[in-house]
Amino acid sequence: MLTFDDVTVVYNNVSGQAKTAIDGISLRIRPGEFVTIMGANGSGKTTFARLCNGLIFSTSGSVCVDDVAVRPDDPKAILEIRRRVGMVFQNPDHQFVSTTVEREIAFGLENLGMEREVMRARVAEMLARFDLESARMKAPHQLSGGQKQRLAIASVLVMQPRYLIFDEPAAVLDMRHRRALMQAMLDLFHHASTNTPHTLINITQHPEEALFSNRLIVLHQGKIALDGPPEKLLLQEDPLARFDIRPPVEFSAFIRLKKNKFPLTSVDELFLSPIL
Ligand SMILES: Nc1ncnc2c1ncn2[C@@H]1O[C@H](COP(=O)(O)OP(=O)(O)OP(=O)(O)O)[C@@H](O)[C@H]1O
Ligand SMILES: [Mg+2]
Repeated sequence: MLTFDDVTVVYNNVSGQAKTAIDGISLRIRPGEFVTIMGANGSGKTTFARLCNGLIFSTSGSVCVDDVAVRPDDPKAILEIRRRVGMVFQNPDHQFVSTTVEREIAFGLENLGMEREVMRARVAEMLARFDLESARMKAPHQLSGGQKQRLAIASVLVMQPRYLIFDEPAAVLDMRHRRALMQAMLDLFHHASTNTPHTLINITQHPEEALFSNRLIVLHQGKIALDGPPEKLLLQEDPLARFDIRPPVEFSAFIRLKKNKFPLTSVDELFLSPIL
């Protein structure tokens, strides 16, 4: 379980001004949850993600990953937290440490002292899933933007961390690879219900991605503005607009048709209704 208790983060920028990026957030994210986080630019999404794996620390309040507190004065605990919480960023360039794509994916597994055969199979699966087989022997810096992002994702996923946080990783991906990434998230999520529970957090600007998850949290000026089932929240056009979020197209259509008194009770009926 990921636990935030009255967490505040204040940044001091170069001009000496204090900026509250996270403002008194309390929440629980349970094992097996798939959470989408949305919110306007500067609402605190990345700060939230960085708090979860000890890249930054709260100014006040506490963050815990399972039974381990995320605190700056306990380096051993931070290492443990980094192992449990995998993170994929928007810009992967600074994440690479190896000379080839294949070695980059294997890097974390080698550090765990994993058996060669198992390791090879896992790396091959990732190369195939993220369409990196032809780039296997290339240096990470030779890759295109999209390939780099896929490599960053593969290198984190291969470790099978208990918590996975994606901070807008799809921003540089094309439609096909965005779909592959969503599929990878769903595979992990469904695998989770039968096996070790994985917890997924996907920070995104694409509301349709929220429909794949079972909880949507909207941040606004460092606070939780909305928190609930995505299929319910995405029907509330007015509050969403305030937070710079537009519902997916079928939700907009549903809202519009309801306003015009069409006898629909759910978005799914849009695809079934003989009257349309
Ligand atoms: N290192 C920093 N120093 C000072 N202020 C910062 C720092 N990092 C973030 N901020 C400020 O904190 C607020 C929250 O930033 P954060 O990056 O968490 O937002 P975000 O929701 O991820 O935004 P985006 O949609 O642009 O990725 C913003 O006002 C930002 O300018
Ligand atoms: Mg961000």
